[in-house]
Amino acid sequence: MDLLAVVATGVWAMLPAYVPNNAAVLAGGGRPIDGGRTLGDARLLGDGKTWRGTLAGTLAGTALALALSAVAPAVSDLLGLPLPSFPLPAGVGLALGAMLGDIGASFLKRRSGRERGAAFPGLDQLDFVVGALACAFLFAPGWAGETFTLPVVAAVLVVTPLLHVGTNAIAYALGLKDEPW
Ligand code: CTP
Ligand code: MG
Repeated sequence: MDLLAVVATGVWAMLPAYVPNNAAVLAGGGRPIDGGRTLGDARLLGDGKTWRGTLAGTLAGTALALALSAVAPAVSDLLGLPLPSFPLPAGVGLALGAMLGDIGASFLKRRSGRERGAAFPGLDQLDFVVGALACAFLFAPGWAGETFTLPVVAAVLVVTPLLHVGTNAIAYALGLKDEPW
């Protein structure tokens, strides 16, 4: 595969993991997952991680995976690239994993004294990638092994932070997000 094909495969395969965070921003609110509980001086996760946001994000990512599967053959033909479709466990793994990665990052942010909304450069851009890849390999090992080859994973790790910074800046400019990260 040439570089373009590797990057295209990586971005395509990660789309169900990119959408959950944005869906959570739009749908978030209601009861926080940690129920207000604290660990030491800080909240366990904080008010920014809610049941509603997590459920909405997981459903949105899974729905996108199913939609992408439906159009994968046509888009592959159009681009002349073999883009993967998503078996249900792969879609759920990517979407739920992205949410769990983000939740894990909030746990670490609170442990390191960062308030809700504080930036944690590096972690903010890659938490959901690590979670999504881990859950994809857990839920759909065969599919993940074929799709996320080493070059594809490398491309994902380089391209995702760039896309993430870009989309969050847009969400901030539109007033959908309180901080630009
Ligand atoms: N959100 C949610 N549930 C999640 C993730 C996000 O409800 N599992 C919503 C919350 O309204 C949150 C917003 O999306 O405030 C932005 O998400 P994020 O930046 O991840 O949360 P922060 O509020 O910045 O909190 P943290 O510092 O813990 O990341
Ligand atoms: Mg934030």
